[in-house]
Amino acid sequence: MLISLYKMRITIIGGAGHIGLPLGILFANKGLDVTLYDKNHTAVKKINNSELPFMEENGRKLLKKNKKRIFATTNKKYISKSDIVIVCIGTPVKNNKPNLSYFFKLFKEIKILLNPNQLLIIRSSIYPGTCKKIYQFLGKDFLNISYCPERVVQGKSISELPKLPQIISGISNEAIVKSKKLFNLICKKTIVTTILEAELIKLFSNAWRYINFSISNEFYMICENLGINFQKLRKNMIEGYQRNKNIPTAGFAAGPCLYKDTAQLTSYLKKSFSLGKVSTEINQRLPYFIYKQLINKFKNNLKKKTIGILGITFKADIDDTRDSLAIELFNLLKRKKLKVIFSDYYASSLKKNINTNKLIKKSDIIIVGAPHRCYKKIRISKNKYLIDLWDFLG
Ligand SMILES: NC(=O)c1ccc[n+]([C@@H]2O[C@H](COP(=O)([O-])OP(=O)(O)OC[C@H]3O[C@@H](n4cnc5c(N)ncnc54)[C@H](O)[C@@H]3O)[C@@H](O)[C@H]2O)c1
Repeated sequence: MLISLYKMRITIIGGAGHIGLPLGILFANKGLDVTLYDKNHTAVKKINNSELPFMEENGRKLLKKNKKRIFATTNKKYISKSDIVIVCIGTPVKNNKPNLSYFFKLFKEIKILLNPNQLLIIRSSIYPGTCKKIYQFLGKDFLNISYCPERVVQGKSISELPKLPQIISGISNEAIVKSKKLFNLICKKTIVTTILEAELIKLFSNAWRYINFSISNEFYMICENLGINFQKLRKNMIEGYQRNKNIPTAGFAAGPCLYKDTAQLTSYLKKSFSLGKVSTEINQRLPYFIYKQLINKFKNNLKKKTIGILGITFKADIDDTRDSLAIELFNLLKRKKLKVIFSDYYASSLKKNINTNKLIKKSDIIIVGAPHRCYKKIRISKNKYLIDLWDFLG
């Protein structure tokens, strides 16, 4: 299969997204012809002009280098001409509940274009049981279905993906063997599991990180209520004491991976995943907690103050604002009729995004919303009130 693999045509559905695009670039870089099918016209146009629609380390260079082997399109007809189809569309949640119909809508749209000889790989982070449902939906001849979850950290797929072991599972042994061969082109190691194990490995990984962040966020809120500086306390907990060294700083933990996948797992496991429910409640409460802190500190004077949020993306050093708690905080303060402004170095397309210096000058209160590395040298004068969950600005 290795030799014929190079002649095979891959179509990535959701190919203009954060997961689909770097994956496509890496396969093209190994000599495969890749079609990126996506509904997002603007992103498709950008990719065909060798531009990235979002931040991805070293992505642009590699896209340019392989531009002859990558083609982006909004036309789904290419799916039927492909030997391998990889699904990388989003799996959103709303009000902590997975929106399963969003994912299945795609299969209704493309069923007619799929055939049992194609290798169909699901790459998105899915609600457990989804792969089996897809198999049932497509019919018993569709044995070539695999689930190979993506585990990279957003923005660093190009460098991380080749280093990470690839989890491979499938409806049939043939699907597993074919998927292993395919991923061996771009990764050093593969690990074979059952489908349910693969689905859980993906969701447990994100939930584990999310729960860890919630511990520090709860410690932070406890300390604030006791008038203690958690950042200082955490440093003292860690100093010379190895067992505490992995305690994270406090900080907004949300986004389209950690928060979303914990919500998928909580919904799947219902009452048997109490940590999922509790960690979500803690992490999602932070914006409201900060608002309450401001009320306690400034009382009626708060209305006279300008509050500046520095960094609005869902985490540091990216341009993605999906499920961002900094935005949640901004909207909450707006709803409370407070004067709030924001600045983000990367989310340049957002309306009302102002320049960093202007934000610092205009604000009486500054809240770090995303600790982008480029803010590290910023100094905030003592007459401004600073909330810095990460203890980033020192
Ligand atoms: N972003 C990450 O770091 C990351 C890491 C690991 C796993 N994942 C998982 O990968 C999946 C994709 O995440 P993402 O961040 O790349 O999302 P994304 O929104 O960046 O990309 C999804 C793409 O799919 C396209 N799309 C949606 N529905 C479509 C349809 N019916 N037909 C064609 N195109 C369609 C969208 O236009 C978008 O470009 C999710 O399940 C996510 O949980 C993401």
